[in-house]
Parts: sequence; structure tokens; C-alpha cells
Amino acid sequence: MHLHKFEKIWLIFGIAMLAVFLGIVGVQAFTQGQTPAGGMEKIDPEKVDVTAPFDDPGVHQIDEDTYEVVIKAMAYGYEPSEIKVPAGKEIIFKVTSKDVIHSFTIPNTKVNMMVVPGQVNEKRYTFKEPGTFLILCNEYCGTGHHFMHTEIEVVEE
Ligand code: CUA
Repeated sequence: MHLHKFEKIWLIFGIAMLAVFLGIVGVQAFTQGQTPAGGMEKIDPEKVDVTAPFDDPGVHQIDEDTYEVVIKAMAYGYEPSEIKVPAGKEIIFKVTSKDVIHSFTIPNTKVNMMVVPGQVNEKRYTFKEPGTFLILCNEYCGTGHHFMHTEIEVVEE
């Protein structure tokens, strides 16, 4: 097979760039202590329903300015289905999955986590204004993926 000289140069350039980019990701992952959102906390994905804090999903007040929201994701929804939190307080979202990989995404906020079976992911967020926010799954998880969503109600303090 004959390769034109320029074609060869571009192929070598492309492969070298792939190695550079993968190298950057690899070096960062292993030297900067990067973890999934919230750390490396793990649980048995078969026992989500009986493992704290997922045995008691919902909104829990931690102290005056902090609330924890524990959420289980499953095909094709979230539990609990109704979430109500106050505006202006720090909300700690704790999520895990009971089956396959989902996501926990609140559009137009910085809350956007993968929800991985066996992994506890966590994200802190403070809603500035009251309102109703959409929560949706943006990882393809099966035939009902496009139905997988819920809402969060943010109320006046
Ligand atoms: Cu769950 Cu897509």
C-alpha cells in the first residue's frame, strides 16, 4: 500500500496527538488525586435499599444552613419523586444507582453527575432563587431513558 508523504505526516501527527491527549488525562487522573464527584465512597449496589444513607432517601436538614438530599436513581426514575428544598441554603446531593449508569443533571446549574452503581456521588449546590427545576438523566440507560426525569421544588426560606 502506498501512502502519500503528506498523508503519512498527518497520520503520525494524529496518532501523536492522541497519545498526548490520553497522556494528559492519565497524568492528571493519577497525580492530581482526581475522583468522581464527591470522592471514592463505595457501597454494594445490590444492597442500596438497606445501606445508609440510601435506606432513607429524601431531604434531611444537617444544620441551620445545610440540607442533604439523598436520591436513588433507577430505570427509569428517581426516588424520592418529590424533592423540596429551601433557597439560599447549601444543598448536598448524594446519589447512587440501583441498576445501570444514569446521570443526575439539573440544567443551567453546575449540578451534573454521573450516577454509577456501587458509587456514592456527591455535589453541593445553593439555589439562589425559588422555583421549579428539572432533574434529568443524560446518560443513555435503556428504552425508557428519555422519560427519566423528575423535578425539584425550591421554596422561599
Ligand atoms: Cu437513566 Cu438515562
